[in-house]
Amino acid sequence: MPKAFVVGHPIKHSRSPLIHGHWLKAYGLDGSYERIDVAPVDFGEFLRGFSARGYAGGNVTLPHKEIAFSAVDRRTARAQRVGAVNTLWLEDGLLWGDNTDVTGFMAHLDASLGAGWEQAVDTALVLGAGGAARAVVAGLQDRALKRIFVANRTLSKAEDLVRDLRPGSRVALETSAWEALGRVIPHAQLIVNTTSLGMAGQPPLALDLAGAPRHAAVADIVYVPLQTPLLAAAAQQGLRTVDGLGMLLHQAVPGFERWFGVRPEVTPELRALILADI
Ligand code: ATR
Repeated sequence: MPKAFVVGHPIKHSRSPLIHGHWLKAYGLDGSYERIDVAPVDFGEFLRGFSARGYAGGNVTLPHKEIAFSAVDRRTARAQRVGAVNTLWLEDGLLWGDNTDVTGFMAHLDASLGAGWEQAVDTALVLGAGGAARAVVAGLQDRALKRIFVANRTLSKAEDLVRDLRPGSRVALETSAWEALGRVIPHAQLIVNTTSLGMAGQPPLALDLAGAPRHAAVADIVYVPLQTPLLAAAAQQGLRTVDGLGMLLHQAVPGFERWFGVRPEVTPELRALILADI
């Protein structure tokens, strides 16, 4: 019976057990997916010992994603680019790490906007410069865009991100000062919020979308609430919107397939189950 985990500190708010539990049941699999709370001082020992405890692998969440990146034996190219690992598994005795936020975001964007959406997008604007921004930029970099602007309140973090992700990029990466967003928005056919603004309990992200291109799409990776003030403002302007829940659901797919051998589907039923919990 394969077993998998999500490890973090704290971990009780993770919705991953609901997602994987739903799939295990839906596909009639005799496996388990458990929450494990591990403090940072114990994380190295946890990594060395999980296989002996019968786990095939698992997800890694805050605050361990960067430590996991340094600790694995092998990383996927995506994880290498982002500098963080959220999915672990063992292969030929080696510990592998992937970053499935990258594919999770892109799969959700493709599902929401329809395949080929890039044909109408030459410039994207990504707000924020944390780990989530790195995953989003790394995903967009693989597509046929002309340029990606990264804007962040602390400009130096956007500059670090662009410096790290620029080598080998087919897409031009540029930074924008937070105060200069008004000059970038009219050129951006895709706008993605990766900051915590708009999350329940946080101030809203107040962007003036009046100057956005008429067919622009606005995506938010915040999913509590599902309709953030940014998405509400975008909808009011008649822009297409992409909510944050899909990224959470799609990022879970590759891990489940590795540990349990079935590629699961993100269905409306799964979405409804998680929505009922937020
Ligand atoms: P994650 O790894 O999930 O992306 P993070 O590293 O904490 O999380 O990043 C949070 C992002 O939200 C950062 O880009 C942060 O901007 P700073 O780098 O300037 O801190 C952004 N953010 C948080 N609060 C903000 C605020 N009030 N205004 C603008 N940006 C904010």
